[in-house]
Amino acid sequence: MSIPEDWVKDKLSSTDAGHDWWHAVRVRNNAVKIAEKEGGNLKIIETAALIHDLIDDKFFETDNALKQIEVKLKSLSYSEEEIKHIINIITSMSFSKELEGSSFDSPEFRVVQDADRLDAIGAIGIARAFSYGGHKKRAFYDPAVPIDEPVSKEQYRKSTAPTINHFYEKLLKLRNMMKTTTGKEMAQERHIFMEKFLEQFFKEWR
Ligand code: ADP
Ligand code: NI
Repeated sequence: MSIPEDWVKDKLSSTDAGHDWWHAVRVRNNAVKIAEKEGGNLKIIETAALIHDLIDDKFFETDNALKQIEVKLKSLSYSEEEIKHIINIITSMSFSKELEGSSFDSPEFRVVQDADRLDAIGAIGIARAFSYGGHKKRAFYDPAVPIDEPVSKEQYRKSTAPTINHFYEKLLKLRNMMKTTTGKEMAQERHIFMEKFLEQFFKEWR
């Protein structure tokens, strides 16, 4: 049996709109679309995509969440090997993990990570960034706050900069960090849309 949607939905009921159940669904849909071209084990891909943000330390206590996921997957008769693979994927996926230098890799990992990154860019990426900025009560933009490019996980997570800065800290970098050919192709249109959005934003600001 695969992971019950209601179980995931319930866990994601207290996150911001950018990390809610619909984010999980969009990531799964992106992942399935990428896998149609790139291949990979769909059970692993769909499960990892749906649960990937249940361990996000912005919203959850990661170690405890990982234990709950293991117990749940065991009860659904996922094999030890499947569980290990899924946990490796979801614990290695984040942008901050990549800043730290993460060593895990698999075809399924690449598909799910690209799927999550696609949802961080484009029109939805813009909506998600401002949702998270609102959740953290951050300004849209402040000309007095310089745009920094964080090099470490600590610097990235410590940032309290306005939301526009996040585009330069992370979102505009994602196109070149995509790991599958299909993901790269899908990122192109979304990246250009963000560039247009920023151009218009600064035009109106001035
Ligand atoms: P990852 O999970 O890859 O480490 P984050 O959890 O930091 O990345 O970010 C996930 C999403 O949350 C981002 O794509 C963005 O939508 C939103 N987000 C995170 N940090 C910020 C921020 N400082 N400003 C605006 N949005 C943010
Ligand atoms: Ni995510």
